Amino acid sequence: MVDTANLPDPDVESAQIGPNGRLRHLITLQGLTRATVTRLLDHAEQFLAPPHQAAVRSDALAGRTVANLFFEPSTRTRASFELAAARLGADVLNLDVKTSSRKKGESILDTIYTLEAMQCDIFVVRDAAVGVPQMIAEAERPGVAVLNAGEAHVNHPTQGLLDALTLRLARPDLENVTLAIVGDLAHSRGARSAYEAFNALGIGAIHFVAPDGMMLDEATYPNAHRFSKLAPGIEEADAIMALRIQHERIDESDALPSLADYHRQFGITEHNLRLCKKTPLVMHPGPMNRGVEIDAATADGPQSLITEQVRNGVAIRMALLAEVDSSARQIHGA
Ligand code: NCD
Repeated sequence: MVDTANLPDPDVESAQIGPNGRLRHLITLQGLTRATVTRLLDHAEQFLAPPHQAAVRSDALAGRTVANLFFEPSTRTRASFELAAARLGADVLNLDVKTSSRKKGESILDTIYTLEAMQCDIFVVRDAAVGVPQMIAEAERPGVAVLNAGEAHVNHPTQGLLDALTLRLARPDLENVTLAIVGDLAHSRGARSAYEAFNALGIGAIHFVAPDGMMLDEATYPNAHRFSKLAPGIEEADAIMALRIQHERIDESDALPSLADYHRQFGITEHNLRLCKKTPLVMHPGPMNRGVEIDAATADGPQSLITEQVRNGVAIRMALLAEVDSSARQIHGA
């Protein structure tokens, strides 16, 4: 089945690019060129402090206000957007959605207009519905920016970029790298955005490894090789990304393997990594379910890049906040 929610939408793709060729918003990675993705990763690298040194700070966003609107649970993404905005000198508003007026029936756009009246400049939005970041971007006045922090199962662009930055730092020769993305691809926005990011960067090969019902369709993701068994999918891998089973998006009536079977057949574990010819790097977007899609020995092992992913997430979000702010300043002539 073709994933119509994630077919390229030229309107979204062009609406997020500003007159200077920079991003005005970040809604999706679809349609971003290699040059744009490379520029964003290069910029993010400037925000990475050497180990054991204080975090990089600047006042690039002094006087700006960033509003974090997370209508779905989040730990890493929300915390890293908050830290990224603070480290750039912005004021940060974390709307407590549990007690916000959206619970009283206010539309999301009325919430946005209310916050805009308080001079919020950048909206960071996570929502369970498809199309919300785009809708807000279209409804906004020109100088206000929207960053997609997770949209249903379809887009998680900052996650894709931080995954790409992390693997590029470990393997600058990405064109020689085979990345296996293993597990619940079908319900994962992170896997979709990782595909877009790595595809744009010209990675050597992407393997999709998933049981029935968890695979992504070939029509929408043509540049991935598909495997329904772990062994052939990971034996040549230089890097493996494990994914959490997205139970919140799975119909309980779908036939799923038991968690024990899943762990045995698709878990990224010490035991299963013996199927690999090389010693692959291991990634996971988090949150992890240890004992299901990954085991503790692998998550905490020497080949794990999981902590680096989290660290690099702050730098990626700093680069994106700075990017959309510079577009806004240009639109305002500031
Ligand atoms: C992911 C998400 O929310 O899409 N988490 C994240 O942002 N790091 C993945 C997940 O929930 O499994």
